[in-house]
Amino acid sequence: MTATVPAPAGFLWGAATAAHQTEGNNVNSSHWVNEYAPDSSIPEPSGDACDSYHRYGEDIALLAGAGLTSYRFSVEWARVEPEKGVVSRAELAHYRRIIETCQEHGIEPVVTLHHFTFPRWWDARGGWYASDAADRFGFYAETVSTILDGVSWVVTINEPNMMVNQTPARTDTEQGVNLPGPSPVVAQAIAGAHHAAMDVLRGLGHVRAGWSVANQVFQAVPGWEAQRDAWQYWREDYFLEQARGDDFIGVQSYLRTIIGPTEDELGYGPQPWPEGTRRTLTGWEYYPPALGQALRHTHQVTGGMPMLVTENGIATADDACRIDYTTGALAGMAAAMADGCDVRGYLHWSLLDNYEWGSYAPTFGLVAVDRQSFARTPRPSLAWLGDLARRNLIPVVAGSRP
Ligand code: BGC
Repeated sequence: MTATVPAPAGFLWGAATAAHQTEGNNVNSSHWVNEYAPDSSIPEPSGDACDSYHRYGEDIALLAGAGLTSYRFSVEWARVEPEKGVVSRAELAHYRRIIETCQEHGIEPVVTLHHFTFPRWWDARGGWYASDAADRFGFYAETVSTILDGVSWVVTINEPNMMVNQTPARTDTEQGVNLPGPSPVVAQAIAGAHHAAMDVLRGLGHVRAGWSVANQVFQAVPGWEAQRDAWQYWREDYFLEQARGDDFIGVQSYLRTIIGPTEDELGYGPQPWPEGTRRTLTGWEYYPPALGQALRHTHQVTGGMPMLVTENGIATADDACRIDYTTGALAGMAAAMADGCDVRGYLHWSLLDNYEWGSYAPTFGLVAVDRQSFARTPRPSLAWLGDLARRNLIPVVAGSRP
């Protein structure tokens, strides 16, 4: 039996999903277009996903029945605003029903406005390079704000730093310090959109809002600290700095990245994992301490902001391994909290086995989903996490301070 410490009263215990990964048939999104393009490099299309567009009630009931207290899901922009400036009242009502279903089960909804996918029209007019990108996102935030009655937690944008990495810079001069690397122009455009959404959400008065950043736990090969810091800035720290003044920041953590010498033009970058490194189904290093370290780094860069773990989890075919990984991650979180990090909740990624951006093979779910029938089968890890939630206890493991 693992030792535990009490979590603060009101601590959120939950699980997360995202629209494109679970709803199915997100046909008006540009990701769908790319998945089904004849020359697509995406190995597997999303198709029906988990059919959560219709089965969200079952998903929320499973989560609540296990003892969890919070559900993070995302609203799909491509459904709510199918053409620029055209709002679908029916789709807004759909997302309102999801919020109300959470409330009926005593579940605190954590609503993400944007989780990676865009309407087709957005890409067609230049995406983040459009001069009115922030205004358009502000309009979308305003649209969704009409269904947020009784909602206390909103994530504006999921992993803006990963989106920047996936948006190729248009010119070399745009690339700044990390040639080749993420574009500061795109980073600033996304930050502008976040601030526009924050202005809207602040106006509601009852919502705590912020964005959620992918924390990559950048470590340096000894002597390569300056290069690590340069690598890290436009990939992480800029986005943490932009959160200062928000109500909270979402921390998303899976693994670490070690920066050191490379053979390419830049001369430094991520180091390959050594032969024999224990890996997960995504090929990532099995590294449970990442979460505690991500929280400490976020605490430090943001000046001690309230944090919500909006994602943490593991792709594995072995559920006992999921429990081990999560025990280690939670122990790292408990140690960070004992050292002063203000953590308000833990939302596991993911509630369901879902569409992992190109493949259904990496299974992150507390609940397995049959790909043909969509039948949900809870894994033991769901009951395990629900039990911690019911008792409001966080596991601690000797030596989990970094
Ligand atoms: C994303 C999720 C994704 C998960 C695992 C995060 O980067 O927000 O959409 O499924 O990591 O790869």
